[in-house]
Amino acid sequence: MLLASSPLELRRQIKAWKQAGETIAFVPTMGNLHSGHISLVTEAKKHASKVVVSIFVNPLQFNNPDDLTNYPRTLEEDSAQLISEGVDLLFTPTPDIMYPKGLEAQTFVEVPNITDVFCGESRPGHFRGVSTIVNKLFNLVAPDVACFGMKDYQQLQVIKLMVEDLSLDIKVIGVETVRTEHGLAKSSRNGYLSQQELDVAPLLYRTMKLIETHVCSGVEIDDAVEQAKAFLASTPLTTDYLHVQRADNLSSPNNDDKKLVILAAAYLGSARLIDNLVFER
Ligand code: PAJ
Repeated sequence: MLLASSPLELRRQIKAWKQAGETIAFVPTMGNLHSGHISLVTEAKKHASKVVVSIFVNPLQFNNPDDLTNYPRTLEEDSAQLISEGVDLLFTPTPDIMYPKGLEAQTFVEVPNITDVFCGESRPGHFRGVSTIVNKLFNLVAPDVACFGMKDYQQLQVIKLMVEDLSLDIKVIGVETVRTEHGLAKSSRNGYLSQQELDVAPLLYRTMKLIETHVCSGVEIDDAVEQAKAFLASTPLTTDYLHVQRADNLSSPNNDDKKLVILAAAYLGSARLIDNLVFER
């Protein structure tokens, strides 16, 4: 696996590959890799001859300085995993390289409307940080395809909109959420959970499955969501938001909309769990 930490090294390699007729699939991450990230790499391999992964804990998307400081950084283990997965290049820039003029002076990319709701409402400025860094990384890696997890469903939609609105020639692929055997979505932040919290965390997924079952059996969406919120209130989880929206654009569904997504975020101790579930009724 090749390593690059500067744009110059990265661009040189990408140029050489493109001249040799190779195609490039890209998986951006913040590291502390788990099987969810690895499933993106596995998917990426199916779509191109070279796979590039980036690891960059992006300060621009953190609205809480403690969260940024405490974010797990495990570069050695991560790079060993990526080598054994056959990744071709790992890009690991530093904040100074990505934001040489500082965060305040950085030009940004902002996708309107869908970034103000759900996670965007709880974390102001978060999606601006995500779209800005992903745009920069897209410009550096110049991939043919890029893979993102459906676990962060709103993020996936934000990236798809950015690619469409800025006419980027990149195919964005959404990859199924990888879960533990009890249904908890794998996440780098699960490391913040105690054993006791890990035992109750899968209740979020179970609650979402309950909504799916109810809506599919004809219960009104609002009623199903209210019941689910009442159930969560009886558990150690504190609901941040819980909504059922149209899967294609996250707007509020009409009675005849079939493809839906449950968007959920809940606090458990010091951790905030995010999960999403796409289903058809
Ligand atoms: P990070 O949280 O490291 O996630 C990197 C990618 O892995 C994202 O596309 C995310 O949706 C996906 N992912 C995480 N957990 C997953 C799971 N359990 N199953 C499937 N995919 C999963 O998301 C980010 O980093 C950043 O916002 C980033 C896009 C890299 C921009 O900084």
